[in-house]
Amino acid sequence: MRIDIFTLFPQMFDGLLGCSIIGRAVEQGLVDIKLHDIRAYTHDKHNTVDDYPYGGGAGMVLKPEPIFEAVESIKGELDLSSVPTVMLSPQGRLFNQEIARELSGGRNLVLICGHYEGVDERVAEHLISDEISIGDYLLSGGEVAAMAVVDCVIRLLPGVLGSEASLAEDSHIGGLLEYPQYTRPAVYRGWAVPEILLSGDHGEIARWRRQQSLLRTAKRRPDLMEKAVLSPEDKRLLSGSFEIKS
Ligand code: 6GU
Repeated sequence: MRIDIFTLFPQMFDGLLGCSIIGRAVEQGLVDIKLHDIRAYTHDKHNTVDDYPYGGGAGMVLKPEPIFEAVESIKGELDLSSVPTVMLSPQGRLFNQEIARELSGGRNLVLICGHYEGVDERVAEHLISDEISIGDYLLSGGEVAAMAVVDCVIRLLPGVLGSEASLAEDSHIGGLLEYPQYTRPAVYRGWAVPEILLSGDHGEIARWRRQQSLLRTAKRRPDLMEKAVLSPEDKRLLSGSFEIKS
């Protein structure tokens, strides 16, 4: 997969692309990330990327010309009309695992990071095919949001995650929250791992985990609970008087 990222701050991506799972995917050539500095597509001596908003008001607005010219500079390399061209902005539709899966299924992805108080609306009207937000809070720019999208998309690419198992567990996203995990030592500072996990009884462990997922989801994410499909056994586990790990 090839991902083109258009930003005023390409250096911000160094951390994500150089470390851990994403860094390894890049190194192995499972994904080709091309960073483009929008400022390189200005023509005045001050490299102006923003200007005052028409109609007045606070803050600055990103000018359309450098963004159009930056994105159009890759026209010869890929057919933009058939590639998802996504602007990250708080006005976008809400990102989730389903959108990540959709995007990771394509050969190409183009991401444009908005900044300042906003981006000239002609970018949204005539350049992009989609606008995405990562949540109902305000970031200072689209870069952190683009990193979240890039991370989610890359980890879904074939060969990026070592074990198939971790991908199977993805079914939890949008379903139920994960159950609590423990590793050694069995007792740390006097805090013991739940005894059942040391019992070796795989049936009982699976039941306990399912129950923890259900209780935790009901408590923290009632919105997910409403959409969850619960078996009679699930309902029994939910009404049981077992302790919840919060
Ligand atoms: Cl994509 N951009 C900005 N600036 N803030 C956000 C966002 C994006 N998603 C959530 N908050």
